[in-house]
Amino acid sequence: MSFLSATLDRVKPSPTIAVTTLAGELRAQGRDVIGLGAGEPDFDTPEHIREAAKAAIDAGKTRYTPVDGIPELKAAIRDKFLRDNDLDYPVADITVGTGGKQVLYNALVATLNPGDEVIIPAPYWVSYPDMVKLAGGEPVIVEGGLDAGYRITPEQLEAAITPRTKWLIFNSPSNPTGAGYDEAALRALTDVLERHPHVWVLTDDMYEHIAFPGFEFRTPAQVAPALKDRTLTVNGVSKAYAMTGWRIGYAGGPSELIKAMRKVQSQSTSNPCSVSQWAAVAALNGPQDYIPMSRDVFLRRRDLVVAGLNAAEGVTCPVPDGAFYVYPSIAGCIGKTTPAGKKIENDEDFATALLEDTGVAVVFGAAFGLSPNFRVSYATSDEVLEDACRRIQSFCAGLK
Ligand SMILES: Cc1ncc(COP(=O)(O)O)c(C=O)c1O
Repeated sequence: MSFLSATLDRVKPSPTIAVTTLAGELRAQGRDVIGLGAGEPDFDTPEHIREAAKAAIDAGKTRYTPVDGIPELKAAIRDKFLRDNDLDYPVADITVGTGGKQVLYNALVATLNPGDEVIIPAPYWVSYPDMVKLAGGEPVIVEGGLDAGYRITPEQLEAAITPRTKWLIFNSPSNPTGAGYDEAALRALTDVLERHPHVWVLTDDMYEHIAFPGFEFRTPAQVAPALKDRTLTVNGVSKAYAMTGWRIGYAGGPSELIKAMRKVQSQSTSNPCSVSQWAAVAALNGPQDYIPMSRDVFLRRRDLVVAGLNAAEGVTCPVPDGAFYVYPSIAGCIGKTTPAGKKIENDEDFATALLEDTGVAVVFGAAFGLSPNFRVSYATSDEVLEDACRRIQSFCAGLK
């Protein structure tokens, strides 16, 4: 019998981290590699946030804090939910963790029993199904394909609900597609959920602030207040303020759930980094001009990448509503052969050959539950993106 837990047999390591690692290794060997795999803004954390962290260190704010966040940060989060989302969460119903990732994990560990089902629309963020499995639950995947704008329909949601369904995980704008649900599309889903009171909503609003003109961000408890007492609204500072390394995420939700999540955190990691918490206070309470600045840059890059990829033979790239990813289909490349004689049978073959032949690292679609596609993170400079698009175009033109 293996020394390792049987649960781990059901879980795979994060493929996005694997691609970033492989690209780094090739670069270390002297290869000219363009990494389009990493899901983080390429900007520096704004200066006033960095200064707040330095001041916190100098003021000795370097000790343990309350398990799920200092009162000052919870107050800033309460104000943020009111300001941006019309949601009134008392500070007692707010929890802070080491990244949105830990907050999501805490929620699943705190609620899932063996056999409990969690509905996950695909394409999905790579961690959702594996987190569900680690917590003992069963992911139920519902596919929103290219023709559906990478969104699921209310009929699909209705059909996926069973007496064992515990959660719907909702993510708009989405990683990996950038597709968003506008108010009407979201309401169509919440109408279904209102008819199934045993189903809770785990909404991951991480890309809230990277929403492009024509798309207005909405969160489930905002459009359907009746769902608020069975919704966990998760968010964080990583993508909104270029703070991925600081590891601060947070959520508002029903008191009982928040208490249970705090219990999980108290017996695992305890408080998120004290200095990072003070930095997050400055991010949420301070000037917000980083948000429109970064959104405008991402919008310009989105348009550059969508045009560049649609110019590649066999690639179809829809226009995303937000986030900093595109998720083109490569249906037109499947079955072709590279000049080196390698047959492209699926999107993993495509991504591997693209990396080997051109040095462009992307993440293959199977990792996100919908194929044949790949994901590009365009959180990098215009020059790099132009170079990458040219290489992808010539790679695709070389497929026969
Ligand atoms: C959809 C989504 N949710 C959650 C996270 C986790 O963010 P963090 O743990 O940095 O707050 C990410 C990060 O890539 C993400 O893309």
